[in-house]
Amino acid sequence: MIVVTGATGHLGRHAVEQLLSKHQQVIAAVRNVEKAQPLAAAGAQVRFADYDQPASLEAAFAGADALLLISSSEIGKRFPQHKAAIDAAKKAGVRHIVYTSAPRATDSGIKLAKEHAETERHLIASGVPYTILRNGWYIENYTGQLANTVKLGTLYSAAGEGRVSVAPRADYAAAAVAVLTSSGHEGKTYELGGESLTLGELAAKFSAWAGKPIGYVSLPFADFKGALVGAGLPEAAADIFADADLGLGRGELLVEGHALETLLGRKPTTVDQVLAATPRS
Ligand SMILES: NC(=O)c1ccc[n+]([C@@H]2O[C@H](COP(=O)([O-])OP(=O)(O)OC[C@H]3O[C@@H](n4cnc5c(N)ncnc54)[C@H](OP(=O)(O)O)[C@@H]3O)[C@@H](O)[C@H]2O)c1
Repeated sequence: MIVVTGATGHLGRHAVEQLLSKHQQVIAAVRNVEKAQPLAAAGAQVRFADYDQPASLEAAFAGADALLLISSSEIGKRFPQHKAAIDAAKKAGVRHIVYTSAPRATDSGIKLAKEHAETERHLIASGVPYTILRNGWYIENYTGQLANTVKLGTLYSAAGEGRVSVAPRADYAAAAVAVLTSSGHEGKTYELGGESLTLGELAAKFSAWAGKPIGYVSLPFADFKGALVGAGLPEAAADIFADADLGLGRGELLVEGHALETLLGRKPTTVDQVLAATPRS
């Protein structure tokens, strides 16, 4: 039995659905049971699990052989939350914890990576067999904003000419499913990423897709952060996202090697494939 946290999130839903399609028994561990009804309908056992309520975690993980710990979205609270999940899994007798981390987590200068590095260290120290999946950037970070980018006619960032390795969430979920359903991954840390490109190259792809010019403008950090705040993001979130762009510019989101392709047993989905499947509406 495999338990998946964050199962009502974007990545979690992919993971649960893919595990069910492989006839695995799945526990969807969620903080909002109502939201998980589609997962229950698809065949998952839904259990309440809030990272902020350690007792709920231990109960949710009972009887599971493996845990897919999908990193929390609550930036700033994540290390205590992940620690609670790891500790609960250990108490519940889970025999393999698979954690979704970030590129080069322990060496990265990107602020977002700090909580991942802390989690990785705690996971390794826990003594529970683990696999760390250092997921690269989601292409959806950009295609999720595609309509707005097309409207503006410009892709803005603070990333300069840095290269980033991107893949759709479904590919990262498939890699996690491969790790959970095949042997030999304990004690391993995988740096996962798909196609690598600059954001200027990405803007050119968006332009070809939209059939209109889409430029690329890299702003100074303060200007980009200010633009994000102007677009409605809280100051702290704007700071985090602009900081990640600086890291991208330094090359810290470029993933070397072919671990994603190896786990998938095929080439990762390309940006062009993602765009070809995106309705223009
Ligand atoms: N590699 C990248 O490009 C990238 C980009 C963004 C995020 N990430 C990281 O990858 C993770 C998964 O991505 P995603 O797109 O699936 O994010 P997401 O859709 O925001 O999913 C996050 C999940 O965490 C759950 N969660 C948050 N706080 C919780 C709590 N206190 N207790 C239990 N569950 C809690 C959410 O529950 P609800 O469904 O109830 O909200 C949601 O299911 C993110 O959380 C973040 O750490 C990576």
